[in-house]
Amino acid sequence: MSAQSDKAGRAKRRGVGDFVKGGPPIVGLTAYTAPIARLLDPHVDFLLVGDSFGMVVYGFDSTLPVTVEMMIAHGAAVVRASSQALVIVDLPFGSYQASAEQAFRTSARIVAETSCTAVKLEGGTEMADTVRFLTGRGIPVMGHVGLMPQSLNIAGGFKVQGRGQREADRVAADAAAIAEAGAFSLVIEGTIESVARSITEAVAVPTIGIGASPMCDGQILVTDDLLGLFTQFKPRFVKRYAELAPAIAAAAAEYAADVCHGQLSRLEVGF
Ligand code: KIV
Repeated sequence: MSAQSDKAGRAKRRGVGDFVKGGPPIVGLTAYTAPIARLLDPHVDFLLVGDSFGMVVYGFDSTLPVTVEMMIAHGAAVVRASSQALVIVDLPFGSYQASAEQAFRTSARIVAETSCTAVKLEGGTEMADTVRFLTGRGIPVMGHVGLMPQSLNIAGGFKVQGRGQREADRVAADAAAIAEAGAFSLVIEGTIESVARSITEAVAVPTIGIGASPMCDGQILVTDDLLGLFTQFKPRFVKRYAELAPAIAAAAAEYAADVCHGQLSRLEVGF
């Protein structure tokens, strides 16, 4: 997607109509806080306020404990600090799976209280009616198929999906159902290249890969992985573009040494 501006030359925020298939690759990153959103905004087509912040920021073992209130607080911060990127906020576990009506109430609250443009939900054929319900009532939806972190207790962990033919067919059927139900775009997470390629060829909406090969219409990464800030584990598909964890540790150690050894002058720590 190319940068857009209004008549006065000001940057204009992207909309879901800008997510077109067959254009330049679509670039997405996660953002959870205002300072990071501000830095990423000029470089991406969309910012995802992913429930991955449960693990990355809050130190949970999974995304399951994340609440709607947490999504709203982080989503609103990211919208406030960005002006060009489309902002999409995840629906957290337990806030949408019970019924289409529950999904609508949660989504409407998130959109109203954060001013984000769209929501993302995990699920396949079983969520298609919900996606149709939301999109028919004014809420743009990004789907999420393949490895679905909110289903880790069913899947038995964070496992690559689609290696066998039966699994590959299931992931493809999930993608087709969500796309046909009206999702404007589809995240494909944790699957093999042949599955990602055949989904991307089959569905009418852009696919966004994460650990799903380059055979997608765009890519997303967890920003803390890209920056080398999340060091608990590194998924195999992650390319680190910076190593900020050691830089932060070194800065903290230098500061501590200055304080302890009386190295700071009045100019550095006073007025
Ligand atoms: O929560 C998240 O950050 C996500 C991405 C991994 C796509 O869903």
